[in-house]
Order: sequence, then C-alpha cells, then structure tokens
Amino acid sequence: MSKILVIDDDASIRETLDLYLTEEGYKVETAETGTDGLNKYVKNPSDVVILDIRLPDVDGFSVLEDLKEENENVKVIMITAFHDMETTINAMKGGAFDYIHKPVNVDELDIAIKKALKSLEMEKKIDGLLMEPSRSFRVGDIIGTGNKMREIFKTIGIVSQSRTTVLIQGESGTGKELIAKVIHHNTSPDEPFIAVNCSAIVETLLESELFGHEKGSFTGAIARKLGKFELARLGTVFLDEISEMSVNLQAKLLRVLQEMEFDRVGGKDKVKVNARIMAATNKDLKAMVKEGKFRDDLYYRLNIVSITIPPLRERRQDIAPLIDYLLAKINLDLHKKVIGVSDEMMEIFMNYHWPGNIRELENLLVRACVVAQGQVLGKNDFPELGKDEASKAPKEEMAEVFTPNAPGKLLTLDDVEERYIRKVIKENDKKNKGEICEILGVSRPTLERKLEKYGISFERE
Ligand SMILES: Nc1ncnc2c1ncn2[C@@H]1O[C@H](COP(=O)(O)OP(=O)(O)OP(=O)(O)O)[C@@H](O)[C@H]1O
Ligand SMILES: [Mg+2]
Repeated sequence: MSKILVIDDDASIRETLDLYLTEEGYKVETAETGTDGLNKYVKNPSDVVILDIRLPDVDGFSVLEDLKEENENVKVIMITAFHDMETTINAMKGGAFDYIHKPVNVDELDIAIKKALKSLEMEKKIDGLLMEPSRSFRVGDIIGTGNKMREIFKTIGIVSQSRTTVLIQGESGTGKELIAKVIHHNTSPDEPFIAVNCSAIVETLLESELFGHEKGSFTGAIARKLGKFELARLGTVFLDEISEMSVNLQAKLLRVLQEMEFDRVGGKDKVKVNARIMAATNKDLKAMVKEGKFRDDLYYRLNIVSITIPPLRERRQDIAPLIDYLLAKINLDLHKKVIGVSDEMMEIFMNYHWPGNIRELENLLVRACVVAQGQVLGKNDFPELGKDEASKAPKEEMAEVFTPNAPGKLLTLDDVEERYIRKVIKENDKKNKGEICEILGVSRPTLERKLEKYGISFERE
C-alpha cells in the first residue's frame, strides 16, 4: 500500500484529504506544521508528500528542501493559494514533483499522485537495472502476460533442460532472437551464441561461413577458416531467416542435423558438431514445404520443438507492460527519466495494428525519448503515428465498424463496441474464447458480460 503524508495547517484540508485518500486505498498520515511533518517523514518515510507552502512555523520551501535532503527521490506535491508563476517555478526548482492550487481539486490531485507513484516505480526499476551491470538474459526479460506467452515461457523452461533443435516462428520484430538468446542463456551461458542470417549473404559464402574452409579450397581462400558450427563449440548456432536458405544448402544442413558432423569445404576430415541449432523464420515454413520451396525432411528435423510467437496486435494487453519495460531500458541508455505515455497516446497504441511488432514499438519509443521535453510522451512525440500510419491502416480495417447504417446517424460507444466484438469473432473463426479475449485485451468474465449485454451468441471453446 502506498503511503502519503499530508502537511497542511488547515484542519479541514487535512481531514478531507485524509478521508478521501484513505478511501482511495492509501495509507495516510497528517501533520499540522512543517516540523511535525518532517519528524513524521523521518520516522516513517512515505512515498508521496502533499505539502502546503504556507505553514505556521517554517515555510513550505524549506520543508521541501529538508525532505529532499532526507531522500532525494521523495515525491512532493505542493499546494498553495498563490497563483503566481514565480511560486510555481520556485517549487519546481526546489525539486517538487508537481504543484496544485487551492481549492484542491481532487481529480487533479489524484492524477498528480498517480503520476508521482508511477515515477517512483520507474526509478526503482531503473535502480534495479543499474545494480546489474552485466545483465544476463532471464525469462523475466521477455514481457508477456497472456496464455500464449505463458505457454512459451513453459516451453523455454523445458527446452532449456535439453539441447534439442528449436524452430522459432513469428512475424518480424516479435522477439524471435530474444527468445533464442534466453534459451541459449539458460542452457549454456558460458558458450558462444552465434547468429547467422541466411538471407544476408550469397550461397557460397554462407556455406563457408557455416562449415568453414581449408586453405586453398577455392580462389580467395588464403587461410583455413573455422565455420560457425565449430566456433559455437557447445553453444548455439542460431539460423535466422532459415526460409531463405538455398535448396542446396538445405540438403547440407539436413545432413549436419542427422549426423552431427560435416566436411569442411575442401577438407578431408569430418568435423564434429557439438553446438545446438536453433532456427527462426517469419515465413510460414509449413506452407513453403507444401509449395515445394522448403525441404520437408529438414522442416521436420528443425521443428522438433517449435515456438510460435503471436504478433503484438493479438496480445494488446502486453503493450502497457512492454512500454514500461522498454522505457526503463531506454532511460538507462539515454540517461532520460521518461515515465510513460499519455492516456491519449496509449489509446492510439492500443488501436494501432503494429506491423513491425515489438521492434516497431521500441523504435518509436527510442525516437520519442530522444526528442521529448516532458516526462510523459504525448501525441506530439510520435509524429509518425499521429498522421498517416496509425490512421491509415486501422481506418480501412475499421471502416465497417465505424460506418453507421443510416446516413447522418452517429454511433454510440456501445454500438462500436458491439460491432467490433462481432467483427473480431467473425474474422477469427478458428479461435477459441481465450484467444478472442487476448485479441480484445479483456478478461474472460468481461467478455462473457459483454456477450450477454449485446446478445452475441458465441459457443466456441
Ligand atoms: N516479449 C518481449 N519483451 C521485451 N522485449 C522484447 C520482447 N520481444 C521482443 N523484444 C525486443 O524487441 C526487439 C526485437 O526483437 P527480436 O530482434 O528478438 O525480434 P525478431 O523476431 O528476431 O525480429 P526480426 O524478424 O525483425 O529479426 C528487441 O530489442 C527485443 O529485445
Ligand atoms: Mg531477428
């Protein structure tokens, strides 16, 4: 429970705030004078202090100074009857977190308190990160809350106890490489993790990258070169964009997987493979097998365990925790103290279709943090989203949801909600209730309530 200390000489304000804040679920303490307030804070530090500027004994600014001396991260919200800019500036310069006027508007106060607590939480997180200078990968580094992500965490746990081949599938930016690294780190943290992008280099080069070559085995092979399979030792070779591998190399890779040894290009002796192999793709490999573009035997070899990461738009409930997590990371890199995004921006994020998934979210946040002036990122900090992309794609997608049947009639929020739920159910006719909940970002009971409210029958388990 968060603790709040109210320092104000006006008994009626103390009582009102005490009642209101206790009701809101905070643990509240009050003090009538600056000295009493400071003593109470020292004895039992609170998360937020609400501090009147004009106090009978000492003035609020010096109390603010003392509080800051006691704990530089204390969040102080100043209240005053004065409306001049100078007092505001002084309060902010003195390190107050926020500033509100008398008569106190509880909504305004509420927002200020929530912001202060959020900022505190973020600082704690950043401190936590700072205390681990060489951050290692843990399952905790993958943000995910829905059922599908929970299943993925379980699979990661299971495959980390063995050295089986893992195929990781998902749209671009969904975290395939991150998951591969987490598995690697949980299996063989002291061995190398070597990523090879199968689409980035031409076939012959890729072959010598993977298998190495003997000196003089082809023009330009001026020295013996070890391949990635050897360099990875007991670690991992991560074959990214495996779908782009040529048919010729697919055959060679299959042999490696079957025999766990290979010939170095131009070499005579067999080389043993000890590394674990993981592969990733953002294409539908199974479909490629059907079309004859990918070897089926290789597909089955790679697919011993497969992890399919859902795109971000199908797990919108992860957007907010991802923002918190990514901002903590970005703050650390850029030495910023950005707390979060505005409610308005959050709504845009929640409705956006995220073609680039988490990488896109991360890039947007980095760019916004670089230029942002304030602690909360607003619409102006995301010019790319405000204008075209965000409004373009979802608009087409949503057109039928938003178009009323009768011209001139405007839809109510309930109408839109009903239409949208129907649309999602219709367009995801293979998905069960749990998956529909994830797409909509609501809990099961909420979905049930809404289905009943709108008389939508939906009997899929
Ligand atoms: N669940 C997650 N929690 C936290 N960060 C994530 C998560 N998923 C992805 N990221 C971050 O998003 C970025 C993109 O992830 P990654 O490179 O693993 O994606 P990818 O699927 O390999 O993308 P691509 O197909 O474009 O290569 C990385 O910075 C990664 O750390
Ligand atoms: Mg990748």
